[in-house]
Amino acid sequence: MNSKEIRNRFLSFFERRGHVIIPSAPLVPENDPSVLFNTAGMQPLVPYLMGTPHPRGARLANAQKCVRTQDIDEVGDNTHDTFFEMLGNWSLGDYFKEDAIKWSYEFLTSKDEGLGLDPTRLYITVFEGNDDAPRDTEAFEIWKKYVPENHIYFMPAKSNWWSPGDNGPCGPDTEMFYDVTENGLGVMTKDEYMAADDRQDVVEIWNDVFMEYEKKEGKVIGKLAQKNVDTGSGLERIVMAIQGKNNIFDTDLFVPITEKIKALSGGEIKDIRASRIVADHVRTATFMIADGVRSSNTDQGYILRRLLRRAVRYADVLGIAHGTLAEIVSVVAEKYQGVYDNVGAQAQTIIDEIHKEEDKFRKTLERGMKEFIRVSSGGEVSAEDAFQLFSTYGFPLEMTEELAKEQNASVDKDGFNEAFRKHQELSRAGAEQKFKGGLADTSEMSTKYHTATHMLNQALRTVLGEHVSQKGSNITAERLRFDFSHNEKMTDEEKTAVENIINQKIAESLPVTYEDVTIEEARKRGAIGVFGDKYGETVRIYKIGEGNNRFSLEICGGPHVQNTSELGHFKILKEEAVAQGIRRIKAVLE
Ligand code: SER
Repeated sequence: MNSKEIRNRFLSFFERRGHVIIPSAPLVPENDPSVLFNTAGMQPLVPYLMGTPHPRGARLANAQKCVRTQDIDEVGDNTHDTFFEMLGNWSLGDYFKEDAIKWSYEFLTSKDEGLGLDPTRLYITVFEGNDDAPRDTEAFEIWKKYVPENHIYFMPAKSNWWSPGDNGPCGPDTEMFYDVTENGLGVMTKDEYMAADDRQDVVEIWNDVFMEYEKKEGKVIGKLAQKNVDTGSGLERIVMAIQGKNNIFDTDLFVPITEKIKALSGGEIKDIRASRIVADHVRTATFMIADGVRSSNTDQGYILRRLLRRAVRYADVLGIAHGTLAEIVSVVAEKYQGVYDNVGAQAQTIIDEIHKEEDKFRKTLERGMKEFIRVSSGGEVSAEDAFQLFSTYGFPLEMTEELAKEQNASVDKDGFNEAFRKHQELSRAGAEQKFKGGLADTSEMSTKYHTATHMLNQALRTVLGEHVSQKGSNITAERLRFDFSHNEKMTDEEKTAVENIINQKIAESLPVTYEDVTIEEARKRGAIGVFGDKYGETVRIYKIGEGNNRFSLEICGGPHVQNTSELGHFKILKEEAVAQGIRRIKAVLE
């Protein structure tokens, strides 16, 4: 079974059990500045897990594009990658443990409808209990109907409690592992099982989280209003289990890429780890660029830059010629044809961006390496030198650290971060902070700002003209930021006019409602926003006001407030240029 069939089987299996299939959200979260990328399937669904009704219902399933770079150093082993798809089915206050476990088991083992995995190779972990929540004997009892008791282990919160960060929905989970050894491991004691896990002889293939708790600032504060199920299954790992491989790079998701790398390396791979790193990083970069990320020194752009520069360095280890790395893009596009068509549609942009970043880096790489050897010769790279390597030679800190490790040298990371903070007003630590937290953190205020952003978009079009279109938006609990196309600085009168329109519409207490319609219908009604390109695809349109008093109609995933009266007073703090033809507004609700 290839990866496409596995993905399709998963979605069909849950569709037949009453789930609505929703599309993957883009890699960069729309309204959640607390994370740089979606790192799990549940991330875009946080508001709905917290209680906002989802317009498509209480049972959903999809494959969600995710990026995790915390384990970037592990890429090259058998199972780590930085981009992955997470298959997931959700119950938003609907079914709970009984059905979730039954369906996980059925999908994994059923030959007709599911994956037909060998049930004797399944191992299960369940939560052993702590001060926050009791031992999950309920899950244990349910599992016993399907797998022998001696394949089930109780584990602590460290491994069997799942939350997206310090804030938000969370709960105990039950995880499914598959034995990928040739002869099978049979019955194991808990210690033997844990050792097998360390050796990657058993691989986690699915996680069912019973999300009925809430966390605030790192502490579990109690139960949510509803009991949810959040399941996640890493597609790459499941494909590996089905295809009988012991590593993800030998599955059909990666083989065309590693074959291409082999050809680019002159027909022979001299360093398997380097080849896997290049395969992974270029694949991830391809998806990031397709979703609008561009290399830079901050936030998402910094992660992209790190990945591409690391790929270039390992391409050199493999003897891949300058300028040929981008040839991998078309292989990735082909693999995801019919699944993520934006990769193919934007192939040229992606190739250009990779070339640009590679050229830029290569200009300084050789001199930078000389400089690195000089400054690391004493066994220690000072903060000033690390910062100099970054600012003059474009070496991301992690690269300096990695090079230093190879030389048994150390790097003054704290000093670097201090210098970075001073010069960039944004430290890497600051960026990483953003991996913590979550939408739930700020969801009420963010929701208000989200609605205000729609109103701003419309008010700008009314005051400045129909050429105004959204070029970006970023929302925190404190303010909104909105980028839009317009050639001139706004006058004070224009700014006041925009504020007045919005405050007038707030005063009118307009209802905010949504409807799910086809793309064609959305166009016909004059909705603004980003249109997908799939014919017949259903989109959600949010409407502010009704009938003759309709103020705004925009394609959007929500969530929004129910009435504009909830917003308070709208005020523009700043209007400035961010690029040629693009203006930025910062505004607050008071
Ligand atoms: N959120 C859980 C995970 O990422 C299950 O989807 O593992």
